[in-house]
Amino acid sequence: MAEPQNQLASLYRQDILSVDQFSRPDLEALFSLTEQIIKHPGGFAHRLDGAIMSAIFYEASTRTSSSFLAAQQRLGGGVIPITGVQYSSVSKGETLDDTIRTLGEYSDVIVIRHPEVGAARQAADATHVPVINAGDGIGEHPTQALLDAFTIYEKLGNIDDKTVTMVGDLKHGRTVHSLARLLTNYDNVHINFVAPEGLQMPNDIRKEVEDRGIASTSADNVTDVIGDSDVVYVTRVQKERFESDEEYQAVNGSYTVTPEVMEKARHDMILMHPLPRVGEIATSVDSDPRAAYFDQVRFGMYVRAALLSAVQTLPN
Ligand code: NCD
Repeated sequence: MAEPQNQLASLYRQDILSVDQFSRPDLEALFSLTEQIIKHPGGFAHRLDGAIMSAIFYEASTRTSSSFLAAQQRLGGGVIPITGVQYSSVSKGETLDDTIRTLGEYSDVIVIRHPEVGAARQAADATHVPVINAGDGIGEHPTQALLDAFTIYEKLGNIDDKTVTMVGDLKHGRTVHSLARLLTNYDNVHINFVAPEGLQMPNDIRKEVEDRGIASTSADNVTDVIGDSDVVYVTRVQKERFESDEEYQAVNGSYTVTPEVMEKARHDMILMHPLPRVGEIATSVDSDPRAAYFDQVRFGMYVRAALLSAVQTLPN
């Protein structure tokens, strides 16, 4: 296997648009660097001295935006945060290309979230600096999948041979689209898809991951499969992607993980959620040692720090 640091040279000045860019050696190297940053944060405090990250969010965000901003600054870098585009020239009607081209003149990397699939790719074509996709509509959310995989790896010691149950709005959820694809890098992974009527995982993604070695099944209810799951990954119904409020209300609240549901789960499994939750996991589950969603929050900053380091610096 390639030496981890050298392996990361392949990410230097690269756009990060999809999980499909990552090979297993890339993931191992990135996770190894993430662990080093967690263990020795002081050793990385000047890694990005003088480097500037712009973060422009055309959609709501708490964790993704703040963790990117924190990560860049914890490594010594500076930030241009545009997390409310209504106060930028976007509100004057400026095109995406012109906005991104402008930010590219001031920064070493640009992080973008946008409601349209393909917007991150369009942004990458508009500038000479690397662009990181922080979520493009119902498309992809590659850095969330990286932190999700890192969380499974840290909490369970391995990702091979795991059964992962994805619950919720699998049609619109970009986190599950990216995570399902990323899991194809691992051996003998089984995915259970559990979605309300009409919100199933899109067939093209399901076929793509099956063609790449993932065994998958569907279930109507999380309680049918929770006892066989190493990971249960719950997502919210993506309200903002529905045509009408009636359509949303028809499926909202149709599944909730409670302590009673968790009684059916194994002792060595983990319960994950990208957050925000809006009722899919009862707060009474939070004290359960299997609840890993706030571990995801913490790890997210470190995984993004490792990625920002790899994109902006060559391994030393
Ligand atoms: C997710 C997103 O934006 O796709 N949030 C996140 O980045 N942690 C999940 C969601 O909004 O449901």
